[in-house]
Amino acid sequence: MKRVKLSPSALACDFANAGVQIKAAKDGGAEYLHLDVMDGIFVPNISFGQPIVKSLSKCTDLVSDVHLMITDPIRYIEDFAKAGADIITFHVEATDDPQAVLAKIKACGKKTGISIKPATPVDAIIPYLPMCDLVLVMTVEPGFGGQKFMSDMLPKVQQLKEYAERNGLDYEISIDGGVSAENAKMCVLAGANVLVAGSSVLGKENIKEAAEDLLAATVI
Ligand code: DX5
Ligand code: ZN
Repeated sequence: MKRVKLSPSALACDFANAGVQIKAAKDGGAEYLHLDVMDGIFVPNISFGQPIVKSLSKCTDLVSDVHLMITDPIRYIEDFAKAGADIITFHVEATDDPQAVLAKIKACGKKTGISIKPATPVDAIIPYLPMCDLVLVMTVEPGFGGQKFMSDMLPKVQQLKEYAERNGLDYEISIDGGVSAENAKMCVLAGANVLVAGSSVLGKENIKEAAEDLLAATVI
């Protein structure tokens, strides 16, 4: 079984204190830093783009886990690669040619990730899984932090885990939206190994403790 990794989402941080807050998350055991890029078109919200990804990736040695919630993502892959992303995840719903986006990410020397919204079945990404380093299952409608975890998405995680085992694939399975110490264990039991958490980690007063608590809750 893959080691469970925590990927705190910077969307929940106070950007004026981001460096200090991200360090606290790292001290609490985080290994990735989740960076949510929203364009106001693919999702009904705008967050941040390349300049913030660049500063935040540079201020920490956590793995820069960029989640693109943007239309036609191929246009910006190179930019985010240059901004310091280590993993670039895009939405299968946002492009007509997921294969080309994956190839572009690889050509930039970065790890590939593909994501599905709650209404999208795993079947929609099966053809692309051999090219993926990470698969991100949304457990809220993308666009906003602080929403309620949709536990009915867990069968998708299970399906992805079984598919990897049956087909000798090695992608990480990430889960994003409403993840907290209360549901972290069920995410891991379903097969997720990367837990994205915004409000329940960087949104807390004591970030280090919140990260530690979330990770402790996953111990099976
Ligand atoms: C939502 C984003 C999430 C968000 C999670 O569109 O993809 O990464 O930051 O925030 P919480 O953990 O508060 O649901
Ligand atoms: Zn995200």
